Amino acid sequence: MRVKNLKRQASDISALLHESSNKKQEVLDCYLYQNVTSTHKALTCSLSALIPIMNHFQYKNGELFCEDVPVSEIAKELGTPFYLYSKATLTRHFNAFDTSFDGVDHLTCFAVKSCSNIAILSLFGNLGGGADIVSGGELFRALKAGVDPKRIIYSGVGKTEEELRYGLKSGILLFNVESEQELCRLNNVAGDMGVKAPVAFRVNPDVDAKTHAYISTGLAKNKFGIPINEAPDLYLQAEGMANIEVKGVSCHIGSQLTLISPFIETLQKLKDLVGLLADNGISIQYIDLGGGVGIVYDDENPPHPKEYAEAIKDELGGLDVTLIFEPGRVIVGNAGIMVTEVQYTKTNRGGDKEKHFVVVDAGMNDLTRPSLYGSFHGVQPVKEANYTSQVVDIVGPICETGDFIAKDRDFPDVEQGDLLAVMSAGAYGFTMASNYNSRPRVAEVMVAGDTFKIIRLRETMDQLIRGESIPDFLEK
Ligand SMILES: Cc1ncc(COP(=O)(O)O)c(C=O)c1O
Repeated sequence: MRVKNLKRQASDISALLHESSNKKQEVLDCYLYQNVTSTHKALTCSLSALIPIMNHFQYKNGELFCEDVPVSEIAKELGTPFYLYSKATLTRHFNAFDTSFDGVDHLTCFAVKSCSNIAILSLFGNLGGGADIVSGGELFRALKAGVDPKRIIYSGVGKTEEELRYGLKSGILLFNVESEQELCRLNNVAGDMGVKAPVAFRVNPDVDAKTHAYISTGLAKNKFGIPINEAPDLYLQAEGMANIEVKGVSCHIGSQLTLISPFIETLQKLKDLVGLLADNGISIQYIDLGGGVGIVYDDENPPHPKEYAEAIKDELGGLDVTLIFEPGRVIVGNAGIMVTEVQYTKTNRGGDKEKHFVVVDAGMNDLTRPSLYGSFHGVQPVKEANYTSQVVDIVGPICETGDFIAKDRDFPDVEQGDLLAVMSAGAYGFTMASNYNSRPRVAEVMVAGDTFKIIRLRETMDQLIRGESIPDFLEK
């Protein structure tokens, strides 16, 4: 299926590359969002020959580069595993999303949860972006990265009093309030501090995002937001509160959406709500449409941000509001990879069955998505060779059967010491990492042209036990 899809993409691209230079740019923009990779070496070669600058993780003379740096050079200096981001790709993806909304008043608030390294937040801040945060920790990061607090919005169902206070003290743009109790708490905290809290209500539109159940957030059965039909009463209540300033309507219906229709259905509902509020004398300055635009991991077919933007603009009509977006995955997903080294290859046999394994030095603690959601990530050797292939599971060292990066994958016959690139790992990769099995978290690196910088050091053993102590009563 994947190979068929890639073949289709290759012939589409080849046809389009013969058209005008404008069209070529459109094709490159479009495919830059995608992780067009393959374990099928011949196909990888024909694709890279067709579109030499399709993305910034490419083979040159049989070796995978990130921009102008050989991935193996970084591994040699740093060891493995590590996450690797391309500045050019991050920049391009941010701009492609943001400029799709040229012509309408808007603010792109990068979803910090998807990739929270301060170097990356600072890059997007410098490009004019803001931040969508869901915790005091993310606020701390965004501020440290130099993001303008007037471009920070705060979502999340469980904001503590301390977190609300921190947000108010920092002067953020909006609190996306998710319950009546949160509204009351925010009103009290703002009153204590002698300030007014700027508020949007995150509504739950009961729209099916048609994505994985764990990342669907806009259905009535999900914990997020306020049921949209109960929102008008809450807006009226908020209007009567001394320390609340009603400013917006917000929603986020899920992540990795491959259809535009759920976004449009949601916007229609939000527009109805804004109209109803206007009839009741409540004017709305901001509509926050959340994040959620999907990317290609395997054979998905998500909309390009331009298509998404055109559909939103069409539906918006003449509504006089500032649009806010909270994209994460679509910007960073295919701008980062994880690099890991083969430790062992082995075959387990039982009866007439046998199973081949490639054991690498990155586990489910480093990249959780395959274990958590059964997600697909392309995996490819950093050095191309004349490999034969076999069906393998690519697994980590964690003591869990659920610890895998790829399952039943037709994969080149790699050997101990070979480097592998786990593709599309920029979003919800490092940010979801843990220390499970007492494994220090890996390093993060950013490449810019022909240079690379470590943007997060690999954790040390000492850092693993930082803050732990053995109490007196346990002493012998
Ligand atoms: C409130 C909120 N905004 C934005 C996002 C980012 O979504 P995505 O990375 O799919 O763009 C999420 C992620 O689930 C979210 O919960």
